[in-house]
Amino acid sequence: MSSSTQNKKLLNWVDEMISLCQPENVIWCDGSDSEWDAMWTLMVNSGSAIKLNEEKRPNSYLVRSVPADVARVEERTFICSEKEQDAGPTNNWADPKEMHHTLNGLFSGCMKGRTLYVIPFSMGPIGSDIAQIGVELTDSPYVVTNMHTMARVGQAVLDVLGDDGEFVPCLHSVGAPLTPGQQDTTWPCNPENRYIVHYPETREIWSFGSGYGGNALLGKKCFALRIASSMARDEGWLAEHMLILKLTNPDGDVQYIAGAFPSACGKTNLAMLTPTIPGWKVETVGDDICWMKFGEDGQLYAINPEAGFFGVAPGTSMKSNANAMLTMQENTIFTNVALTDDGDVWWEGMTDEAPDHLIDWHGNDWLAGSDSLAAHPNSRFTAHAAQCPVIADEWNNPKGVPISAILMGGRRASIVPLVTEAKDWNHGTFLGTIIASETTAAAFGEVGKLRRDPMAMLPFCGYNMADYWGHWLEMGEKENAKMPNVYYVNWFRKNEAGKFMWPGFGENSRVLKWIFERCNGTAEAVETAIGNMPTPDGIDFSGLNLSEEDSINLMRVDTEGWLAELDGIEEYYATFGTHLPAELTTQVNELRNRLQASK
Ligand code: GTP
Ligand code: SPV
Ligand code: MN
Repeated sequence: MSSSTQNKKLLNWVDEMISLCQPENVIWCDGSDSEWDAMWTLMVNSGSAIKLNEEKRPNSYLVRSVPADVARVEERTFICSEKEQDAGPTNNWADPKEMHHTLNGLFSGCMKGRTLYVIPFSMGPIGSDIAQIGVELTDSPYVVTNMHTMARVGQAVLDVLGDDGEFVPCLHSVGAPLTPGQQDTTWPCNPENRYIVHYPETREIWSFGSGYGGNALLGKKCFALRIASSMARDEGWLAEHMLILKLTNPDGDVQYIAGAFPSACGKTNLAMLTPTIPGWKVETVGDDICWMKFGEDGQLYAINPEAGFFGVAPGTSMKSNANAMLTMQENTIFTNVALTDDGDVWWEGMTDEAPDHLIDWHGNDWLAGSDSLAAHPNSRFTAHAAQCPVIADEWNNPKGVPISAILMGGRRASIVPLVTEAKDWNHGTFLGTIIASETTAAAFGEVGKLRRDPMAMLPFCGYNMADYWGHWLEMGEKENAKMPNVYYVNWFRKNEAGKFMWPGFGENSRVLKWIFERCNGTAEAVETAIGNMPTPDGIDFSGLNLSEEDSINLMRVDTEGWLAELDGIEEYYATFGTHLPAELTTQVNELRNRLQASK
């Protein structure tokens, strides 16, 4: 565990943070296997982690958090831009000077009795033009191991950084200093004082009090989305909450498709999907974050800045997502899932029947038939991308892959049909802005409540949301730009019995096929008020056993529902004041006119 750098900015910053946080030790991380082992030895010995059965799940560990620290905390997430209006109405804003003052107080001495780990990491293939470097300082060995899997970590990053390279400083503490001789807890954190703070102008991240997921693995949502989205606006590219998949048709032709779905709405599942239609193949490029830059040919080229998956466990099974199950067979971290009697893991939905006895995510005995959940709904696996059996060869390509289509979707029980194609880029941008979705367990708070989540970026846009829409529109105006087709999809429409009409998962390949064929000009569409839709035989429903009613309703344009929706959209748009791009008002008016005309 040693790394070396002569980078002055980095060395000075680390020194400054050591003086502030006052850790007992400092370790520079190198991302090696021996470092991984050392961290786990530490965590197993302290009771923070359980080593899983080596025969069933080699080199894998289970960690349990406390119930107060199980998901992202959006109400404690701040964008501290100089001006409040640059954070916009959808972000929490605080004055950067005041926030610095508050955080300096909290971080002062916060690592007493702990080790500070310095983690140099690259988001994106090391050295790629699209990649970015960050350095996370953390007092959590659990974060160190997760960062090993989720990013490229170690000396190679420092080598690319060189003596005067730029990096994003990411400071993290669980916020639980230890007095001499004080016994540590198994999941140290400070839920009363959580702050997930971003300074977009100076490109810095400070996170205090939580050890969980996006709150603590700062390369992910904090850097790769919030800070990167603000960089992307300044530099003319896009940082998005999107999966990236490679789709191959039976002739061997390839298209790359990106897709924005809110948290826990199906990105990992779609990215790893096993098609049910013969001859088609899906391979994974990324499952959560997508950075896109224009190539010289005017197309958008995408990379997955991450190196691993931090995926939702519940609902994942050999039936729903075999490739995810195979990805996490070894070298995997499990957080807040249940432990089986033979030292393996389980969660709701993994098998049809639960084992008779488990240890639940609280660490208590659990018996089949119990009312309580054995695994937390936001329990997760952390596994390296290279372990995915269908990882695309290109996933590591520094140039990225050319994107032909962008999907937008959310959980909508009504109104939104299975698939609609945008008429053009501006209409596609409009469809992105009107995504609304039922909330999930990925963020702390009420589950199942409909909320607006434009481009699935509501919790992740690092600047004014309306300016971000403006940036999308501007991207399409760039000379020689060949923008992807945009599709609004909804796997979650329900019938009157409250059941999903669409089987989803592998069957989503039927929709992907239509999209692929639209992109290569071989599939037909009909124009409707809300956009282009498949012809009646455009998507093959055979063998799905859909009821007549459901198959009609899946594609139905609910004119009255859309008109009512438009009122809500206008109200929402109004909250952005003068930042709202005029083009979006035009889009609303045109949609209303088309809907009225179609009545
Ligand atoms: P984050 O990692 O939070 O960004 O989530 P994600 O968008 O990657 O979502 P993921 O693929 O992990 O899916 C979340 C939940 O949605 C799981 O419980 C899945 O079982 C469920 N799900 C995924 N795809 C489908 C689908 O096509 N239909 C239905 N009904 N459920 C789905
Ligand atoms: C999400 O919530 O969208 C996630 C999980 O991907 S986290 O990394 O915790 O943000
Ligand atoms: Mn996500």
